[in-house]
Amino acid sequence: MTRLTDLTTDALKALAGDLEREYGLYRGNRLALDLTRGKPAADQLDLSNGLDDTIGGNYIASDGTDTRNYGQIRGIPEARALGAEIMGVPAANVICWGNSSLALMYLCVELLMTDGIWGDGRRWGAGGAPKVLTPVPGYDRHFTLSDRLGLGMVNVPITDHGPDLHAVRELVSDPDIKGIWCVPKYSNPTGCIYSDATVAAIAELPSVAAADDFVVLWDNAYAVHDFSFPRQPLADVLALAGAAGTADHVLIFSSTSKITHASAGLGFVAASPAVLNVIEARLNVSSVGPDKVSQLRHARFLGGRLEAHMAGHAALLRPKFELVENVLSRELGELDIATWSKPEGGYFVSLDTRPGLAGEVGRLAKEAGLAITPPGATFPYGNDQEDRNLRIAPTFASLDDLKTAMEVFVLCVKLATVRKELSHR
Ligand SMILES: Cc1ncc(COP(=O)(O)O)c(C=O)c1O
Repeated sequence: MTRLTDLTTDALKALAGDLEREYGLYRGNRLALDLTRGKPAADQLDLSNGLDDTIGGNYIASDGTDTRNYGQIRGIPEARALGAEIMGVPAANVICWGNSSLALMYLCVELLMTDGIWGDGRRWGAGGAPKVLTPVPGYDRHFTLSDRLGLGMVNVPITDHGPDLHAVRELVSDPDIKGIWCVPKYSNPTGCIYSDATVAAIAELPSVAAADDFVVLWDNAYAVHDFSFPRQPLADVLALAGAAGTADHVLIFSSTSKITHASAGLGFVAASPAVLNVIEARLNVSSVGPDKVSQLRHARFLGGRLEAHMAGHAALLRPKFELVENVLSRELGELDIATWSKPEGGYFVSLDTRPGLAGEVGRLAKEAGLAITPPGATFPYGNDQEDRNLRIAPTFASLDDLKTAMEVFVLCVKLATVRKELSHR
């Protein structure tokens, strides 16, 4: 095989014929494959079934709290310690709340809009046209959340080391730019890890930004989701913010969603002591306390064995990501018609087609019975101006289904590209 551009027109036509035939066969097979959402597979969920055995009639937390009762808005000490271990921050900076980090992000951004998090009147909704920086490609739910809460979005390209700092520094000179979304480790979807220099620069941003209420929204969803160990390090944003005098302007989020049971886990938010007080007061308005029995189950189940537990996930996920990489490099590598990420952890692979083809690949895949994350979803408003980014979520499918799904996927990429190339010749 050679690069697509080096093929003669006759060779290209012959290749197109082969691809059309193969595609026709798949389309006749009435497949029902799904590579859309980053969900853990059932065998991953099974790793945490031991959660149910941890209570055994003993509901008392380490500080004597009866976890069955109301109270403890910040969470029980051992659950906060678990969040601290996951996020790499002191336990005193952590609130453990609910079952979802996304819900905490919503609550905090809403709080930023309506009241602010400093108790001094500064709030994003006070006037102007508040906006957040959205590194792209990125996580679609950050975009939906921002839009829903009235925030505009300004895209920043993401590099292998995190958001393009040059672009970020220029954009924060606009006082309407109020924050930045960051997925600093195994970013969704590119899988990159922010470099130390990037983390340090982002920690300093609130002091550089024109807005005096600028906030770093640090969604560390994949903090411990490595495929090999020891874990890849990530610089400590809270400590760096402390040194830069910006600690009151950093909100860190995480959860156990992809550690234990995805919708029956624990959410975490970490912040400076002053900001934590404001968040706690807000939580106290809407609830008399979180589910501390779930907190206790998690702390007992994962306490002292978080890495061993994550190694169990890695053993199940590594073969799936290897399969994706193998199929992509075998089928697309030499043709030189796409680029893609090779993550060492997390939940996604990001692939760029040639410009103008992602939507067509999605359409071809759908017709062949393969659902992929809608093209454009990795950009705010679904608008990938170059129409080239596709997100592959390999975790939920069985290895067998994943193999077929990837064969259909690369076929669609090849077919769309070859058809386009032929139309130019
Ligand atoms: C970057 C990122 N943040 C947050 C979430 C959702 O987290 P949670 O289940 O804790 O709400 C996801 C899920 O895919 C994600 O990819």
